[in-house]
Amino acid sequence: MHDFAYRQGELYCEDVPLSRIAKEIGTPFYVYSHATLVRHFRAIDSAFQHVPHIIAFAMKSNSNLAILRLMAREGSGADIVSGGELYRALKAGVPPEKIVFAGVGKNREEIRYALKSGILMFNVESSDELRAIDDVAAEMRTKARVALRVNPDVDPKTHPYISTGMKKSKFGISADRALEEFKLASSLKHIDVAGVHKHIGSQLTDITPFVDALKKILELVEQLKGRGINLRYINIGGGLGITYSDETPPEPKDLSAALSPLLRDLKCTLIMEPGRVIVGNAGALVTKVLYQKASDVKRFVIVDAAMNDLLRPSLYGAFHEIKPVRETPAAKSVTVDVVGPVCESGDFLAKDRAMPEVKAGDLLAVMSAGAYGFVMSSNYNSRPRVPEVLVKGREIHVIRQRESLADLVRGEAIPAFLKSKAGTPSAKTTKKRKQ
Ligand code: LLP
Repeated sequence: MHDFAYRQGELYCEDVPLSRIAKEIGTPFYVYSHATLVRHFRAIDSAFQHVPHIIAFAMKSNSNLAILRLMAREGSGADIVSGGELYRALKAGVPPEKIVFAGVGKNREEIRYALKSGILMFNVESSDELRAIDDVAAEMRTKARVALRVNPDVDPKTHPYISTGMKKSKFGISADRALEEFKLASSLKHIDVAGVHKHIGSQLTDITPFVDALKKILELVEQLKGRGINLRYINIGGGLGITYSDETPPEPKDLSAALSPLLRDLKCTLIMEPGRVIVGNAGALVTKVLYQKASDVKRFVIVDAAMNDLLRPSLYGAFHEIKPVRETPAAKSVTVDVVGPVCESGDFLAKDRAMPEVKAGDLLAVMSAGAYGFVMSSNYNSRPRVPEVLVKGREIHVIRQRESLADLVRGEAIPAFLKSKAGTPSAKTTKKRKQ
């Protein structure tokens, strides 16, 4: 459920027509609904209210400061994967004691920064990393709380690029090595073995892999107990899917009904890392039709947003519904590719899509773009990144400005030997020529 709906043929976000935002700040832009974000967060929080839990919003899905602040106000922590994400989370006011740090390649700087900030724990992915964390913690005369990320070898049945819990994946420690790694961890002087972590993939639309993976993790928790290692936290990661077209993913309450009974007698705090399920359907990318063209075999709608703004269709072949911002009931349906201005054949937002005929100047909303949308955007083709807007009732808040042309070259420098302008040979070359 989200808060984008038609009123008298106009697509609104909450009480704001998207065309009004376009008029105020131009296109393309990302827009998020405050009400949807809050409702989605609360749906998870209340579904798991009977289990002691921490929701660590997976900020890789959307790391805008305003969204993070909103999540923090609702009681969320953050699942981070870099020093940059830690910086953002702290800046947005996320309490460090609710921050968990995942990722296979944390460097020593990042480890030091996280320890200094007092985060809840590291989700550790290898024994090399474990030793590095122990080493940095020793230098800092402190103890690092960790969970070991275990790879339960469960098929999440999702796109291979976002599947993470199988044996061939780079993520986690394989289940058959887990006991050994936990023993190593508990032997290290500057490591506090606090929990176990798993995350098997993203955009999961079936509940079974969640249950199977948790069962495997709980077997391990029992084995560890037998060896005197008592864990306080079980982190089940994120991954709950959303409806992009006709998927019917489980609701948070369904997930809770399936998982909570397994957790009841454990006396552990449950950590969850939802991203997409909170923010995915809370956002859309609004773009304008620039031109149309047709060949013998194809019809193209050329819009002002491109793969650099929303990479998911190009990278994963992902489906995003595209809706006209103004409905024209009489429009006939046509099959088109919706493409952007980037110089790549892979630059498309939709392929062979049946949609109502549009004309230049029309606005289109690319739906379900709140997660892994703006955060994966780039400046490819020297295209300034687009603004982000948060709508709350009738209010429009620009939470990130459109980048300027000057922003595109910020930080770049021309070395002294190239300082003379193109076409004017440098002094040295001129001298040589004279000789
Ligand atoms: N926890 C960990 C350790 C993760 O790696 C991820 C996502 C999450 C939580 C959050 O998963 P979610 O609840 O959002 O499914 N760019 C891809 C998705 C990559 C997901 C990476 N890890 C996409 O656009 O579909």
